[in-house]
Amino acid sequence: MVAGLTVNVAWIVLAAITVAWAIYGLFNIRGSRREYGSEIELAANRKPYYDDEVLEGKKLERTQLLGLAFLAVITISLPLYWVLEPSRQSNAEFGWSKRFASWGGKLFDVTANGGFNCAGCHGGMKANGGNAPFAVTDPKTGEVKAVSWKAPALNTVYQRFSESEVRFILEYGRPFSPMSPWGTIGGGPMNEQQIQTLLDYMKSIQLPLEDGEMPKAKADEIQAEAERLVKAGAYKSVGEALFNLDIDGGAYSCARCHTKGWSYGDAQITGGGAFGPNLTGGSTVRQFPSQDEMISFITNGSEYGKKYGEQGQGGGRMPGFGATYTDEQIKAIVEYVRGL
Ligand code: HEC
Ligand code: HEC
Repeated sequence: MVAGLTVNVAWIVLAAITVAWAIYGLFNIRGSRREYGSEIELAANRKPYYDDEVLEGKKLERTQLLGLAFLAVITISLPLYWVLEPSRQSNAEFGWSKRFASWGGKLFDVTANGGFNCAGCHGGMKANGGNAPFAVTDPKTGEVKAVSWKAPALNTVYQRFSESEVRFILEYGRPFSPMSPWGTIGGGPMNEQQIQTLLDYMKSIQLPLEDGEMPKAKADEIQAEAERLVKAGAYKSVGEALFNLDIDGGAYSCARCHTKGWSYGDAQITGGGAFGPNLTGGSTVRQFPSQDEMISFITNGSEYGKKYGEQGQGGGRMPGFGATYTDEQIKAIVEYVRGL
């Protein structure tokens, strides 16, 4: 489309130039007079030109050499251009994504630096988990109280969600939580370009995966913390400890979405349902009669519009934990959840 347009414009320009030259030539021939002094065989101000010897010797050679030099320039520079062009293009693309990420970083920054304060809640520019001030209303007493709500680490968010799912979260926010909608489509202040640069910024700060898995140092930290909690008697199993894992703003926990109040230190019934559905009373066993199918659901997460289990339809809001947790850890979580 664009290429076609460019070619058409080029043809028009070429045609215009050709016609202009023809007209110029025509007028030039018509308007020309015989030169002054041309009636004299050899006017006084006319020097004799080179003789045949020079013309067919030095002069000719010099012109040929010049031609050869230009030919060399063309034959070298054209292939060189072809050789360099692909990397020039990919470098330009790389340059753009770097630029987008750096623009996104400015939006991500704290208010004091002119940003939208994602960093303020999510644990700084590295976004490894933080806290957000919020006010919740007690549904029974109507009392309003100030709380501190865990804001999950975002340097692992692409382990849990696809880009379009993260875009959805940014555009529409998390209702009933401090995470407000940011896209104009959700009633927020940011246009599509700003949302895109934020997505690119978050991509640039992701903990690099190792073989598609959580980097080993972090994976070890998670497992050690779960085992420590079990040993300390806080939880009965590693599965339960992971379900409630309170590190990096609760990013790897299930409770932050499935236990009301967990995120602000006022946990109600564990797995009793909040942003995510109720998992208690054997409901997950009814939804997933086969344990393997449930394991695969927790590993991959839900996908927008896609069915899961017996009667579930995904909203793309249930994260996939396959990159975050080992198969063993997921099995432990699933066994714990099926017993709720
Ligand atoms: C006022 C504090 C606050 C600000 C500002 C804020 N967030 Fe959040 N954000 C949160 C909280 C709290 C959650 C978790 C909500 C929940 O418990 O479901 C969250 C959730 C998210 C999630 C989902 C992560 C997950 O794993 O579930 C993403 C992505 C996110 N925020 C990105 C951003 C970006 C980008 C910005 C800046 C435009 C931003 N947030 C600004 C508090 C905030
Ligand atoms: C970011 C919030 C969030 C987190 C974290 C989360 N879930 Fe979910 N979960 C959901 C939502 C929302 C659904 C409903 C499906 C949808 O809308 O995509 C869901 C659905 C489910 C279901 C299916 C329930 C049913 O009856 O249909 C199970 C089981 C489940 N989650 C278990 C877990 C486990 C186990 C973890 C932790 C490893 C976890 N979830 C972490 C939000 C979350």
